[in-house]
Amino acid sequence: MRSFTFHPGPRLSAGADKSTDIAEFLPEGPCLFVTDEQLIKLGLAEPALEALEVSGRHPTVFDKVEADPSRATLEAAIEAGRAAGAVSVVGFGGGSPMDVAKLAGYLLGSGDVLDEVWGVDIAKGRRLPLVLVPTTAGTGSEATPISVITCEGGVKLAVNARPLTADWAVLDPQLTVGLPRGVTAATGIDAIVHAVEAYTSARLKNPLSDALAREALRLLTGNLMTACEEPRNIAAREAMLLGAHLAGLAFSNAPVAGVHALAYPLGGLHHLPHGVTNALMLRHVLQHNSEAAREHYARERKHLDELATIEHGVAMARRAWLEPDRVINTWPTARFLNWVRSRPRDAAAPRSGRRRS
Ligand SMILES: NC(=O)c1ccc[n+]([C@@H]2O[C@H](COP(=O)([O-])OP(=O)(O)OC[C@H]3O[C@@H](n4cnc5c(N)ncnc54)[C@H](O)[C@@H]3O)[C@@H](O)[C@H]2O)c1
Ligand SMILES: [Zn+2]
Repeated sequence: MRSFTFHPGPRLSAGADKSTDIAEFLPEGPCLFVTDEQLIKLGLAEPALEALEVSGRHPTVFDKVEADPSRATLEAAIEAGRAAGAVSVVGFGGGSPMDVAKLAGYLLGSGDVLDEVWGVDIAKGRRLPLVLVPTTAGTGSEATPISVITCEGGVKLAVNARPLTADWAVLDPQLTVGLPRGVTAATGIDAIVHAVEAYTSARLKNPLSDALAREALRLLTGNLMTACEEPRNIAAREAMLLGAHLAGLAFSNAPVAGVHALAYPLGGLHHLPHGVTNALMLRHVLQHNSEAAREHYARERKHLDELATIEHGVAMARRAWLEPDRVINTWPTARFLNWVRSRPRDAAAPRSGRRRS
């Protein structure tokens, strides 16, 4: 066996209305609750906040997190936590609130200085107890040891270190049924890209991250369209949330690469949604990597259809975001299908020219 290292993610609680159980996972005392204004307006956080209040955790709500959260927002969240004497942190929302919660919890708990912990495996201190509740499916941030913050000049910097892995992640699909179609599509593509990049990663790829990435791909590509077209389809929402989580676990161990590297500057500079920036870059990177990664693309026949479905989703993400009122047009699927079918057939052909079964 090739040697490899695998880091598990947080403990997991999944199911309808599980967000009301979060108090059980936190110590007694004041809690910093990091979210965004939209989620407060929608009333999505109410049951969780009520459960915390009833349990005596007295949440201090910080709801000023914007998409692609800035350093100033992170610092304001830390200040709110310090003023409240928070002994624990909850991140409730998409990747943006969860990333702020993770790093705020770490800096409050460790007392470290932010500029000394950017990068991989530099942060080594202790964070405050942390529970993450995703409302998009998604970044998988609830599963990862990563926090991405937009700094001066629109540059996205990350802290990627084991202490940022949450104690608990709570997957409650009911929270995602109101996600607008454009956000469903864009965040779903982000999750798919995590799985694709983990599965084809040149670094640290290993059997466990492969298994997680492949199951994530199956769940995500099999349910993205349904989640977009039938927002209240709870089975599809469940599959998307679980798929995004598994993809997060996969890329925590076999890192994302070209698509994200090219997508981050677009997000930081132009504030395009993270999933849309990935959608814009995915096809180009797949094509660029096709020689090096074709065995991975070709390994299973059914991945062809999954990849075709990805492109369907990419097209949909762009269209749903750019033209939210238009009916989804799936024309690129056929074109991409032809391209994908031609690649792995070449790749799978042995030198004799006979195709493998
Ligand atoms: N930490 C990681 O491992 C990781 C991985 C990928 C991306 N990211 C980061 O995550 C951020 C993007 O996160 P995101 O794509 O989840 O988006 P987001 O958190 O920025 O949210 C996007 C929008 O969706 C809304 N929204 C969220 N949940 C909703 C719901 N249930 N119903 C209705 N509206 C809802 C939000 O209010 C917001 O307006 C970026 O900053 C990106 O860099 C982090
Ligand atoms: Zn991503």
